[in-house]
Amino acid sequence: MQRRNFLCDAFSSETNIEPYGSGQACKLHLIPGRFLLQFSPESLIYGFAEEEFMKKQIRELFPEIAQIKDEKLRQQVVSTWEEAIREGGWQIDDLQTIPFTLLIPDCRIDLITHTRGVTQTAIQVAGVLIDSYGDRVKIDSDVLIAGAILHDVGKVAEYVREGDKVVKSKSGKLLRHPFSGSALAYKHGLSQEVIHMIATHAKEGDGGHRTTEAMIVHYADFINFESLGGKV
Ligand SMILES: [Fe+2]
Repeated sequence: MQRRNFLCDAFSSETNIEPYGSGQACKLHLIPGRFLLQFSPESLIYGFAEEEFMKKQIRELFPEIAQIKDEKLRQQVVSTWEEAIREGGWQIDDLQTIPFTLLIPDCRIDLITHTRGVTQTAIQVAGVLIDSYGDRVKIDSDVLIAGAILHDVGKVAEYVREGDKVVKSKSGKLLRHPFSGSALAYKHGLSQEVIHMIATHAKEGDGGHRTTEAMIVHYADFINFESLGGKV
């Protein structure tokens, strides 16, 4: 029987696992430490463990998620990325091989590096504005960070691997990433403020209203794009 291994950290001697749909809680008794758990594909626990494992990996790929104060918002950000990866037919390891743009020839910057660069730029810009202008500037840092981490989540639907190349997918030609990303974020219950940032961060938002958080992420995105040679 084919089995999959999961490396798990146990922080207490008792760990509860409730497989989805089973209605039964399993209690594992573990000595704190690092364990290799084995599950068969038929096991309900397998599905649960795989999903939880991917969520943990997403949080590790984007350490900035930990800077979001609201745990529910953190979970929504993680679940949006998780569905985008699954629906796009990617594996989590692919994220560090997908170029962040197809507009820069031979671009060697991956989607994770770009997303983190934009998020950190946005956080720094917000800090400067608050230090300089105090209460005159209203910035919701949770909204800012969530919107920055999700601004390009739709790119995993916009792109597809073809041989050894990453190219535009059929759906990417019809719905650019601000549209597919907004739809995914809506499905996972993100606020209108966060969806607005995804929807307006690129050229689709030009000429219309952008909130302060959306404006910061828009410019942070283009600073990170154009400084690498990107041209719209
Ligand atoms: Fe971007």
